[in-house]
Amino acid sequence: MNPYLIWFDRLLSRAPSPHCMLIRADRRQGEGPEVTATYAYDPWGNPTLVTGTAAIAPSTRYHRRMQPRRDLAPLLRSALVILAPMAGVTDAPFRAICKRMGAGLTYTEMVSAKGLHYNPGAAAARALLSFAPEEVPVAIQLFGADPQMMAEQAARLYERYAGRIAFLDVNMGCPVAKVVRKGEGCALMRDPERAATVVRAIAERVDAPVTAKFRAGWSADEVNAVEFALALEEAGACALAVHGRTREQFYSGRADWCVIVAVKSAVRVPVIGSGDVFSADDAKRMLEQTGVDAVMIARGAQGNPWIFAQARALIERGERLPKPSWLERIDVAREHAEALVAFAGERAFTRMRKHVAWYVHEMPGAARFRELVNHARSHAELVALLDEYRAWIAEKS
Ligand SMILES: Cc1cc2nc3c(=O)[nH]c(=O)nc-3n(C[C@H](O)[C@H](O)[C@H](O)COP(=O)(O)O)c2cc1C
Repeated sequence: MNPYLIWFDRLLSRAPSPHCMLIRADRRQGEGPEVTATYAYDPWGNPTLVTGTAAIAPSTRYHRRMQPRRDLAPLLRSALVILAPMAGVTDAPFRAICKRMGAGLTYTEMVSAKGLHYNPGAAAARALLSFAPEEVPVAIQLFGADPQMMAEQAARLYERYAGRIAFLDVNMGCPVAKVVRKGEGCALMRDPERAATVVRAIAERVDAPVTAKFRAGWSADEVNAVEFALALEEAGACALAVHGRTREQFYSGRADWCVIVAVKSAVRVPVIGSGDVFSADDAKRMLEQTGVDAVMIARGAQGNPWIFAQARALIERGERLPKPSWLERIDVAREHAEALVAFAGERAFTRMRKHVAWYVHEMPGAARFRELVNHARSHAELVALLDEYRAWIAEKS
């Protein structure tokens, strides 16, 4: 066995100038005295010896990995309030509405790299990957745990959507059993090495920024977001989105914003905070309390795309926008229903039921109206119900 084992110690300190990204210790162990050398690497991966002996060559492995990084901070800070990816909810028509109403950035719903690999022409995957022109540049979210397959599919997507992608995001937070059982989604948090390999494989293959979205950890006993974030950053992630819940919590309990603070203070790349942003005030509070570069809104946007403009107005101008009127809410629900059917076909009207329930939440007669909507048998019937409800509400207001 080679007596000289070069291993890469933990990150020692931050770079002294913006042109130096990292300083690392490369240490040789084995026969003879242990020696160390510290090199500073510039953004292009060129090493400069800082301390120790030049007898230890800078790491070629590390050198190769040091691609010029994309600085996503300007994009994310101007995006400010981002629509979170939500499988089964944030389809293209809804995202277009959110974008028009002030969402700074949108993500596609997560799409399986394995699915794209084995069934590249599938209509379902094509629909997941569709986005409206107003969403450009859009973030595309992939899930999977096979580094080569992920890199291959990322490369294809990058080629297909060249010039329209903000970044390629890897889902490392999905808690669903059928996903984690295959080692994908949040299961990657239990295998940080694999997670880093996935990010590295994509970063080396694709000329687009790579990001990841993950949770606080797997369970209360396995909260590892900070170490995980550092590993992904080192592997080439250009930004990180952190949801302050564990996999064990799914979507229950409170999101722990302290974990988001800890990640933000540990990494240099921009961080997006996710969890429990249900109002403009929550969005402002998250920015102030965690120092994140952008805030992500998930369930707070369901039936409430107005939240983006409200949050932006409060954060940027200290202005409180009025709540949308009941009639406005019904009008946007109707517009959403029409857009969904135009996008996904007549049968997609069933998907609209839950959206309608969210739009009319806490409005007069909402419980009865929801019941009627749940029994609607066609898009036309659903729209007729919305029109009747609108007339009834108009009389009351
Ligand atoms: C129905 C639903 C689907 C979701 N799907 C995804 C997904 O596809 N990818 C992802 O990264 N996160 C997904 N999430 C997580 C959200 O993006 C977000 O991180 C989480 O809901 C916490 O934010 P909230 O407390 O504001 O809802 C989903 C959440 C919900 C409720």
